[in-house]
Amino acid sequence: MEVIETRIDIASDEYRANYAAMEAQVARLDEELEKARSRRSERAIKRNEQLGKLPVRKRLELLLDRNTPFLEIAPLAAYGLYDQKVHGAGIITGIGVIHGREVIVHANDPMIKGGTIYPLGVKKGLRTQTIARENRLPIIYLVDSGGAFLPLQSEIFPDADDGGRIFYNQAVLSKMNVPQICGVLGLCTAGAAYIPAMSDDVVHVQGTGAIFLGGPPLVKAATGEEVTAEDLGGAAVHCRESGVSDYFAEDDAHCLDLIRQIVGNLPPAQKTEIGRTEPRQPLYDPREIYGIVPVQISTPYDCREIIARMVDASEWLEFKAQYGPTLVCGWARIHGYPVGILGNNGVLFSESSLKATQFIQLCDKRGTPLLFLQNIPGYIIGREYERGGITKDGHKMVNAVATATVPKFTVIVGASFGAGNYGMCGRAYSPRFLWMWPNAQIGVMGGEQAAGVLVTVKNDQLAREGQPPLPPEVVEGMKKPIMDAALKEGDAWYSTANLWDDGILDPAKTRDVLGLAISAALNAPLRDDVYGYGTFRM
Ligand code: COA
Repeated sequence: MEVIETRIDIASDEYRANYAAMEAQVARLDEELEKARSRRSERAIKRNEQLGKLPVRKRLELLLDRNTPFLEIAPLAAYGLYDQKVHGAGIITGIGVIHGREVIVHANDPMIKGGTIYPLGVKKGLRTQTIARENRLPIIYLVDSGGAFLPLQSEIFPDADDGGRIFYNQAVLSKMNVPQICGVLGLCTAGAAYIPAMSDDVVHVQGTGAIFLGGPPLVKAATGEEVTAEDLGGAAVHCRESGVSDYFAEDDAHCLDLIRQIVGNLPPAQKTEIGRTEPRQPLYDPREIYGIVPVQISTPYDCREIIARMVDASEWLEFKAQYGPTLVCGWARIHGYPVGILGNNGVLFSESSLKATQFIQLCDKRGTPLLFLQNIPGYIIGREYERGGITKDGHKMVNAVATATVPKFTVIVGASFGAGNYGMCGRAYSPRFLWMWPNAQIGVMGGEQAAGVLVTVKNDQLAREGQPPLPPEVVEGMKKPIMDAALKEGDAWYSTANLWDDGILDPAKTRDVLGLAISAALNAPLRDDVYGYGTFRM
């Protein structure tokens, strides 16, 4: 295949300015990730030690194979929310390796408000289960939680995608034969008691692990009975008397070792074969992406330059290179896995939408995973384009993206606006994983445009009533809050806090993350749906 030739001048002022800006964003990312990993109150650290429990990161270390990667999911969930103390929404989730087999781990952090579940913790739990279901990954729950964070109970409990869905999903995963193994390393109270109960295997730590529908305070309030947590639902009770738990563990380390043994005893994973070749490094340094991505999101650049720094040997075979040039499509390899890549080089026109539709169908038929690199201001608008049928051509692309059955992966590398987000496989189009770069922005439209629309609507209304248009100072006052909100609620930090993505990525590490993600995705059959598409509007 041809090598993508770079046109980047790494000595230019523009490159240097871009590089410095992205480097600063990545430094902020690293700093925030470190805080999320390690910032816990002295009191919580002491209490954990007193109880003889291991910190959650140590538990993961003992659970997973040494010197293997851990692909953490949404490590900055709840970032800036809930008094800025509920790092990662109180849960660590990620794909790791046990006895050479990929699994997904969902571990409460008892050093954050007793491991209680916040609304975004529920969302993160559901996301973990979606990843397990779509990729057929065994799921390991390390439970140590005070249950629902009671001050926010109305946001956690009643609705379809609230707490109850976790246990519903466990039943569905069980029916699908996705293994679920639960370590009881702390409290599993009330609803959380169903996490072990609905799992296939339950390993229970004596002394600290307890399962009950109502904890000692509730039992006392309801019946007057005084009972300790251990006596009410400890390992001895559930391993010897109730039969709720299956394996008795002396302590955390023993529990994690037993879980490793259970995973080692599972039938081997049936990974899908898609013709992997020997991985090769890109010809250009991935860190050069820092200097390529413009500071201003609206400044155009050639996405082939970032593709060249992500794919093996910087080689690719471009599809329809001269047709529909605002969308770049082609075949390449990432860590040896074949991928079909779609990257934006401007607004989507009819031609680019039709090209995307054809390319997606080809990849889908050939069993080639799809990678979307989103930097999309939207589909083209205006009289000429509506007459040319942009809506029906955009529809074909959206239809193909929605119904393609090969694994899809999305990285938002810049803008993600309007229906462009849909056509380029936004979250609602079920990519197996979706990440943002730190510079990315997402929304129905940019703040300036949104504010402009609302001013026009208001002026039209005034005109109908025979009144003059808004004076400039009122227009400015009206636009500012809309633009400010769009900026704040459209950035990567807000997105990742709300779990609209699986995390913010350092652009230079994107290739490695994609390699791990593709590997994880291959635990599922290439297609578990009926192959085919909806009706294309012609
Ligand atoms: N909702 C809200 N906050 C809770 C909570 C809950 N369900 N359970 C614990 N917390 C908070 C505590 O108020 C405390 O907050 P603080 O650090 O700001 O003071 C923090 O979590 C740690 O609790 P603490 O009791 O000091 O820690 P611990 O390690 O000794 O015990 C638990 C942790 C979870 C075992 C214990 O707090 C507990 O039993 N909680 C109640 C569990 C329960 O009955 N839940 C029912 C909900 S479905």
